[in-house]
Amino acid sequence: MGSDLAGVKREEIRRMFASIVHRYDLINRLLSLRRDVYWRRAAVTHGQVPSGGRALDLCAGTADVALEIIRQVPGALVIAVDNCEPMLIRGMLKARRAGVADHVRFVAAPAEMLPFPDESFDGAFVAFGIRNVADWRRGLEEMARVLKPGGRAVILEFSTPSLPLCQSSIFRRPWMVSRRPRGCGP
Ligand SMILES: C[S@@+](CC[C@H](N)C(=O)[O-])C[C@H]1O[C@@H](n2cnc3c(N)ncnc32)[C@H](O)[C@@H]1O
Repeated sequence: MGSDLAGVKREEIRRMFASIVHRYDLINRLLSLRRDVYWRRAAVTHGQVPSGGRALDLCAGTADVALEIIRQVPGALVIAVDNCEPMLIRGMLKARRAGVADHVRFVAAPAEMLPFPDESFDGAFVAFGIRNVADWRRGLEEMARVLKPGGRAVILEFSTPSLPLCQSSIFRRPWMVSRRPRGCGP
């Protein structure tokens, strides 16, 4: 996608999320009947971040994945990245309320241009976010670039049912893929 077009789309999406930030968590819980909590938990387990490891939560939104990583992985440090500041601020408040603010850093940046060196994370996650990334191929390339050899990238996303009458969000089912970048261990 051309960088101008991607920039325009990115800004539209950023504004849309800024406008729903106050009801974002509630909408998620209601539409999924709270299953979203379980799906994120499974995705984090799948990522196998080592104790004390450094993990990337891409398109972090209100930081539900970041908080789940901290719950599951002793001593983890999570970098929560999103380009919508109001979503990150909400996540920051949740991290403070949970008493884990020291274990999460919040970074406002586009998924397509991550401000991190190569091979700097033990695991990378994107939950319900990659479909929103204006240039998603570039976003995935960035995810792979910042992963250490042997680290896992986990993508959690929704399917869109093909039957026209079933395309409401309550019929959507989650899917997950996880990969180690090529040339790495099993
Ligand atoms: C549906 S929310 C998912 C939030 C969170 N991961 C979760 O599990 O609830 C998608 C998030 O992706 C962010 N986002 C969309 N495009 C982005 C981009 N190009 N770069 C960074 N964040 C982006 C949005 O601001 C929003 O917070």
